[in-house]
Amino acid sequence: MVATARSAIGVFDSGIGGLTVVRALMERLPFEDIVYFGDTARVPYGVKSNDTIHNFTTQIADFLLDRDVKLLIIACNTMAAVAGDAVRARSPVPVLDVIDAGARAAVEISQRGIGVIGTPTTVNSNAYARNIHALNPALSVYSQACPLLVPLVEEGWLEHEVTKLTLQEYLKPVFVESIDALVLGCTHYPLLKPLIGQVAGAGIRLVDSAVTIAEQTARVLTEMDMHNPQRVAPRYDYVVTDIPLRFQTIGSRFLGRELSHLEQVRW
Ligand code: DGL
Repeated sequence: MVATARSAIGVFDSGIGGLTVVRALMERLPFEDIVYFGDTARVPYGVKSNDTIHNFTTQIADFLLDRDVKLLIIACNTMAAVAGDAVRARSPVPVLDVIDAGARAAVEISQRGIGVIGTPTTVNSNAYARNIHALNPALSVYSQACPLLVPLVEEGWLEHEVTKLTLQEYLKPVFVESIDALVLGCTHYPLLKPLIGQVAGAGIRLVDSAVTIAEQTARVLTEMDMHNPQRVAPRYDYVVTDIPLRFQTIGSRFLGRELSHLEQVRW
């Protein structure tokens, strides 16, 4: 079978953080079916080696391509940073990723300089700086790894004093630079938007790649003439490699609704 306009959009992530992207897609494209793959057995990726991330990522992309998705979205910044090119090389359908989307959005709004926060692997890869400089070499980029933020978000400490202090500590070196945009370069950070906004202040605009990639997806579907012509309630499928404790609670926090049609694959 090949993908048609009625096929689902494939979205994948190292775990459940990519559900922030699914949520933005549901809002922007309410008639599109979505199949989401979260590698919950092997998360987190943000502290793993490039080799391992590359192997896991291509395995997941192949799984979704076998399901004849019409578009692939790499919702995980770490996967996109390390293996975005490898996924594009093997995919017969268009591949969008959060780093490309986030970089484009940041370049559009920044006049001075851009801060980027993400996992250690994303920051070490320099992928955001590369993408931003390919679009505008004149913009300075200041990146900061924030490894403690993923567990804090999963704990649900979205407004907690500890999270605020952690953010202030991480962002101190970024804020001494002249930036006017801050890219939330990790699936988990959109949930911290109110707190990050408070810490960053009014002069710094936040770039949420979940929202920008939903916009980009809508544009690409229009260009390809691949919007789902059916105007009925869409189907959402969630495939995960493990169903850990508190999965439903944490998952629905990211998604903003209950998770239905959950399937587990054992790798
Ligand atoms: N999904 C990852 C990202 O966006 C965060 C979680 C992880 O480290 O796997 O970078």
